[in-house]
Amino acid sequence: MACTALAVLVFAVLIGPFPPVTSANDSHGFRASLTRMRQHLSNYSAAVHHDTHRLAFLARSPTTNTTTTRALQALVENGAGAYHMSVSIGTPPLTFPAILDTGSDLVWTQCAPCTECFAQRTPLYDPAGSSTFSKLPCTSPLCQSMPSPFRACNASGCAYDYRYVVGFTAGSLATEVLTVGDATFRDVTFGCSTANGGHMDGASGIVGLGRSPLSLVSQLGIGRFSYCLRSDSEAGASPILFGSLSLANVTGDNVQSTPFLRNPAVPVRRAPYYYVNLTGVTVGATDLPVTPSTFGFTRTGAGGVIVDSGTTFTYVAGAGYAMLRQAFLSQTAGRLTRVSGAPFDFDLCFEAGGVLDVDAVPVPGLVLRFAGGAEYAVPRRSYFDAVDEQGRVACLLVLPTGGVSVIGNVMQMDLHMLYDLDRGMLSFTSADCASV
Ligand SMILES: *[C@@H]1O[C@H](CO)[C@@H](O)[C@H](O)[C@H]1NC(C)=O
Ligand SMILES: *[C@@H]1O[C@H](CO)[C@@H](O)[C@H](O)[C@H]1NC(C)=O
Ligand SMILES: *[C@@H]1O[C@H](CO)[C@@H](O)[C@H](O)[C@H]1NC(C)=O
Ligand SMILES: *[C@@H]1O[C@H](CO)[C@@H](O)[C@H](O)[C@H]1NC(C)=O
Ligand SMILES: *[C@@H]1O[C@H](CO)[C@@H](O)[C@H](O)[C@H]1NC(C)=O
Ligand SMILES: *[C@@H]1O[C@H](CO)[C@@H](O)[C@H](O)[C@H]1NC(C)=O
Repeated sequence: MACTALAVLVFAVLIGPFPPVTSANDSHGFRASLTRMRQHLSNYSAAVHHDTHRLAFLARSPTTNTTTTRALQALVENGAGAYHMSVSIGTPPLTFPAILDTGSDLVWTQCAPCTECFAQRTPLYDPAGSSTFSKLPCTSPLCQSMPSPFRACNASGCAYDYRYVVGFTAGSLATEVLTVGDATFRDVTFGCSTANGGHMDGASGIVGLGRSPLSLVSQLGIGRFSYCLRSDSEAGASPILFGSLSLANVTGDNVQSTPFLRNPAVPVRRAPYYYVNLTGVTVGATDLPVTPSTFGFTRTGAGGVIVDSGTTFTYVAGAGYAMLRQAFLSQTAGRLTRVSGAPFDFDLCFEAGGVLDVDAVPVPGLVLRFAGGAEYAVPRRSYFDAVDEQGRVACLLVLPTGGVSVIGNVMQMDLHMLYDLDRGMLSFTSADCASV
């Protein structure tokens, strides 16, 4: 009996749950705002290019030995259409733009003394100039939660060194005071990265909101957060709400909910992704013959569908994309003139009559269905839009991919999306983000 209790205790200590360092006050919650890194997504082609790198990381098979790094692999390649959030670190506080990333967990920023850092727009954070910086001991559960091949416990403390195909980040874990929107937290664990390379598109770091222990929401014990991405990003920032039921909530008659899934091949503590169960796709009047295996997980943990804030467009894997493409082709045949998407890096493109007429192009509707009965009739501009400035070519903003399918941020626009971590549900409803 005692033995069992001890075993349970040891088990709990070893694998978590990791206690929140500071509890968010649930009766209040807090609010921050998000800005698109590139207003207007001026270059769709560049956005696809950035997405491609991100997808390469997201899609790696989770059972290969490289996958322990998956949580962090996506960090240094971010979509041109990513969103940033202003955060402040240290005492006195230094404010910098960070990419908001639901597809990774670590919170990190470039740190002095940099041996190799990318140019950033804001002053470099210097731990020596902050009275609240402390190194995280290697014995800390959050240090231990990092993938071991890339973590080194030495005189620097809990050091990490991640190398990727197109970038890298290295440094050591530490704790600091962090301010997000109107809330300040002490002892938040973050990555103080002294060597970095990659495309950060103007940001000086990343705030990971993934499901695994290192993420901001896991550390703060935040049970829910929601955001509403404005399609008209020039009209103002997009709200993100954390913590409180009255603040981060979606209400109304048309709220849709679906449970998050776990990838059975990936241990919980190494799985930052928000998987959902896509059970059906309707194009125009045609229900695609989607079966549980179309978007299900393979035995090696490939497949699945992720909702991701850091990917711009939407990517559908394998047979799912083939069905979608075929349905669009057959329903536009004879009504629209196909043109090559290659110059724009899109797949399925058509002639359009100029910017003002793009909405008049007769493309079939798109509806996504999720387990639990949730249904999303995707707004036109979230899946089909002009890709050149003149509006002569309009493309399906859904592209083929291998491995994992990803619902990117363009398809999440004008939706109030609630990540209800306590209940393990994604809820969403169409919304005017300006009034959220
Ligand atoms: C949250 O803040 C309110 C007002 O400051 C306070 O009354 C309440 O006790 C706090 N709750 C928690 C859980 O800290
Ligand atoms: C758009 O991005 C692509 C790929 O990064 C680049 O080759 C092209 O020159 C860019 N076009 C413009 C108009 O900036
Ligand atoms: C990963 O697996 C490959 C092939 O099985 C092996 O050669 C390599 O040493 C492994 N790498 C690590 C970091 O374990
Ligand atoms: C600690 O390990 C990291 C990662 O391997 C390395 O970059 C760093 O130089 C080491 N620091 C010391 C003091 O050994
Ligand atoms: C949150 O939203 C749900 C569903 O719309 C609603 O039933 C509930 O009353 C809301 N809670 C609060 C505190 O507003
Ligand atoms: C997704 O939902 C369908 C229908 O409810 C179910 O048959 C399938 O097993 C679910 N897939 C996963 C991975 O849970």
